Amino acid sequence: MAPTLSAPQVPDPMQAPPVRWGVLGPGGIASTFAGAVRAGTRSMVVAVGSRSAERAAAFAGRHGVERSYGSYEDLVADEGVEAVYVASPHSEHHAHALLALAAGKPVLVEKAFTRNLAEAEEVLAAADAEGLLAAEAMWSRYLPSYDVVRRTVEDGTLGDVLLVEAEHAQLLWPDGPERLSSPDLAGGALLDLGVYPVAFADHVLGGLDAVRASGTLSDLGVDVTTTVTARGPRGGIAHLWCSMGAATACPATVVGTRARLELSGGGSFYGSGASVHLVAPDGTVLDEWVPTVTEHGFRHQVAEVARALAEGRQETWSVPWDATRRVMATMDEVRRQLGVTYPGE
Ligand SMILES: NC(=O)c1ccc[n+]([C@@H]2O[C@H](COP(=O)([O-])OP(=O)(O)OC[C@H]3O[C@@H](n4cnc5c(N)ncnc54)[C@H](OP(=O)(O)O)[C@@H]3O)[C@@H](O)[C@H]2O)c1
Repeated sequence: MAPTLSAPQVPDPMQAPPVRWGVLGPGGIASTFAGAVRAGTRSMVVAVGSRSAERAAAFAGRHGVERSYGSYEDLVADEGVEAVYVASPHSEHHAHALLALAAGKPVLVEKAFTRNLAEAEEVLAAADAEGLLAAEAMWSRYLPSYDVVRRTVEDGTLGDVLLVEAEHAQLLWPDGPERLSSPDLAGGALLDLGVYPVAFADHVLGGLDAVRASGTLSDLGVDVTTTVTARGPRGGIAHLWCSMGAATACPATVVGTRARLELSGGGSFYGSGASVHLVAPDGTVLDEWVPTVTEHGFRHQVAEVARALAEGRQETWSVPWDATRRVMATMDEVRRQLGVTYPGE
């Protein structure tokens, strides 16, 4: 019988218990989050906090959110908020996650989880001490496509995995958001874009060591284009790159001794529109998995956090704390080799 892809076993997000969310930082991604919560789950965004009361109120108006606050402190103190989504720039994740945890609120923290591993450890230690959930909003790791990949690799269909190749290049610099160009906001391609290939390789290989990186830096000292090679614990090699100075179709391939997986389509390997193909060494497509729903991909991470909260867990299955630690450690090492540091680190 010809080899096939393993089927995903991600529960329907509409079946997850409802959670009342507070959004911290009403920027671009917070809007995507609010849309996915509303359209793709039974949860609700009930409050939003901004550094400006006007911006909070405008976001609340756009997304039908009941309560808006002109400070993050007021947001996390809201007794009707059951969990906080931290959607500020990378530089602020550590402080904002700690703020929410100190107020007794579980947190879903946008990627990159923090600027570095030391900050991540402090957030996880605070969650541990408070008995609260903390999860990295690396949304792709919660998607059915990544579940197909993980199960197919674990089932041995590919044979031994020799190589993971992934790229994430978007044209966001020099004329893009300040968030990417500014060292103060922990900008650069790696933390914003490269975190996807690094997390994908971690997802497939279960860890990365022997990291070798090279890259080009902007005049302000953040990375513009970065390449990474690394090795997984069973010998598979990761070959990854990212850039914020150019755009590609952002494909990924997992190459095994018996077959390979190709993730592509929908704009990127990591998005909710990506398909997975199982390809024989001679190029024959043996099987394909195509997503039936491509909108509101964030709904899967929202639902998984809701299930974890309902079950009293402090971690999600898809991005356990050790996965966040490994990804942050890899990115620390890449930045060390590139010579990228952020003010105040
Ligand atoms: N998962 C994804 O697909 C995806 C895509 C894009 C971005 N992201 C991630 O989401 C996070 C936010 O990105 P974004 O594109 O939404 O950024 P954004 O549009 O600039 O929004 C960030 C928000 O953070 C708040 N903020 C708090 N402190 C700030 C500071 N010192 N400087 C600037 N803003 C500050 C601002 O809200 P107030 O000032 O009103 O409080 C702002 O609206 C990042 O971690 C990024 O990597 C994820």
